[in-house]
Amino acid sequence: MYLFRKDLEQLKAPEISVPKAERMMCLNESCVNPLEIVSADFDEIMQRAPQNRYQADVSGELRQALADYAGVDAAQILFGNGADDLIYHLFVAVREDANSFATALAPSYFDYKTFAREVGLQTRFVNLDREFGFDLDEYISLAREANCKLAILCNPNNPTGNLLDMNDLRHIIRSIPDKPILVDETYFEYSKVSLVKELGEFPNLIIIRSFSKAFAAAGLRFGYVVSSAENILQLRKVQTTFHTSLLVQAFALAILRNRESFLKIVSQTIAIRDELYHWLIGVEGIRVKNSSTNFLTFSLGEQSSELFNYLITQGIALRDVGAHPVLKDHLRVTISCMEDVEAFKIALVKFLG
Ligand SMILES: Cc1ncc(COP(=O)(O)O)c(C=O)c1O
Repeated sequence: MYLFRKDLEQLKAPEISVPKAERMMCLNESCVNPLEIVSADFDEIMQRAPQNRYQADVSGELRQALADYAGVDAAQILFGNGADDLIYHLFVAVREDANSFATALAPSYFDYKTFAREVGLQTRFVNLDREFGFDLDEYISLAREANCKLAILCNPNNPTGNLLDMNDLRHIIRSIPDKPILVDETYFEYSKVSLVKELGEFPNLIIIRSFSKAFAAAGLRFGYVVSSAENILQLRKVQTTFHTSLLVQAFALAILRNRESFLKIVSQTIAIRDELYHWLIGVEGIRVKNSSTNFLTFSLGEQSSELFNYLITQGIALRDVGAHPVLKDHLRVTISCMEDVEAFKIALVKFLG
């Protein structure tokens, strides 16, 4: 006897399949230990946060700090356990029935499909072309279908690393005024491009951001939504009452207090990325596109998979992102820190002999 939802029976539980290596350049994480930066503030906040209570003033302080950082009102903020968790709950909030689907680009963040399946939401995709552009009319007409309950755009996009054209984004948002549009700004601090300032103009816009990349806190699991106060009210209806641990809230607040230190590291990461990009351009056989994120996606043609395996023997894990035809034979390397990037360059040179 099967005890659960019928569509779950054939589903696999989510699992990340990346190699374990000394230099993890595969998940767009940072080498930085955030506790070293925030420990004094974290201690201070935890000392006055009542761990024996459900409610704490820290929640309000954190919401206000996020609002200040994003440049919006506190009522326009909803935080949760990572961008993933907020994406999942957005899917819960939009799904009507088994015919409901979300429109997204491909290739894009793989887990849109994973989490959509978990809540019984279908996904339909519009393919990127080789320059990472796409047919706007095709996207808009798919998103306008009655069963489309959400349009998703990842900006900058993972795993391609490119920014979408802002006027294209605005055109899409305006063309589908009666559907929610998720713009995933997980890599915002690296691109410095955001639609947050245009929320007043676009009542259907829902922006999600993360502390996993620029704030070096992937294990912390913290992210936030920025949208209209009305949309935030609706999204709260699918969250549990005390959804984010006080520990995580205190840590996130301490990160925001020290954000200048993290943003300085972001600037250094961008400089390392640009230097690596120019270096890779000069390597024979490599094709690489510039990126607005903390990673670069490149190809060594048919040798890519051999390179991937060789790098593992050198203690370096990259991500194979070649599943979609547009990125056939492509690998993604995270700009985790200078030491990792130097080791990657040395290993690549050795591989090429
Ligand atoms: C585009 C995109 N969205 C969301 C996430 C998940 O972020 P979080 O760690 O905050 O759940 C990632 C992580 O790699 C990502 O690349």
